[in-house]
Amino acid sequence: MMELKSERELAIMRKAGSIVGEMLDELAGKIKPNIKTIELDRICERLIKRRGGRPAFKNYKGYPANICTSINEVIVHGIPGDAILREGDIISVDVGVEVEGYFADAAYTYPVGKIDAESRRLLEVARGALEKALENASADRRVSAISCAIQNFVESNGFNVIRAFVGHGIGSELHELPEVPNFGQPNTGIRLERGMTLAIEPMISAGGYDVEILKDGWTAVTKDKSRVAHFEETIAITDNRPEVLTSCQRKNL
Ligand code: MF3
Ligand code: CO
Repeated sequence: MMELKSERELAIMRKAGSIVGEMLDELAGKIKPNIKTIELDRICERLIKRRGGRPAFKNYKGYPANICTSINEVIVHGIPGDAILREGDIISVDVGVEVEGYFADAAYTYPVGKIDAESRRLLEVARGALEKALENASADRRVSAISCAIQNFVESNGFNVIRAFVGHGIGSELHELPEVPNFGQPNTGIRLERGMTLAIEPMISAGGYDVEILKDGWTAVTKDKSRVAHFEETIAITDNRPEVLTSCQRKNL
């Protein structure tokens, strides 16, 4: 399914997106040493419901929590629980919200207290990769314009793109076509059109890109245990720079 969204649908996705954006802003003030990831999950559940949304990940293909909390070498789909944040960690929080049958999905990687210089650079490059993707995501370009912009930026900065997970179309389902890989060959993939809505989500490793899934069936980690940063926004394609539906006050790190 790869639908162009009507203005009515985009208006609903903006509502869902604004809740996601607000959640990620709110979390910036909560992420500190000694907090448990399950506490972050409860905060998000409460705020999302209070704003009239539904946490979109809960029970999605059996996923057991409201958000994903992925610490250090965890790439994505870390399940909130008793894990305690420690000074120097990095944690990606991924939030999805459904409003009136439409979805928005975004993620942000936060430093926990003071982090080392390499981790800080990892966050900057991953955030920069998403920015490069946005600069190249306009109508009449192809999906590969996004993929190549991310890969080139990341590899020229000495890091690696995770290949086992990709961005995706989004709308009346959390995952729609097209797939939006964070690497690939130029001049491939479908042509972008005004009204397409995509979740672009580069996952960047400080080391290798090989992936392992833990016994819980969800938690994805790097095989070599290197740290990963993950940034995601839900966007709508226009003739120029895309509209970011999940935007908020988050500042570059
Ligand atoms: N942003 C992630 C994705 O698009 C979050 C999905 S978590 C899941 O895959 F639990 F819903 F799978
Ligand atoms: Co996503």
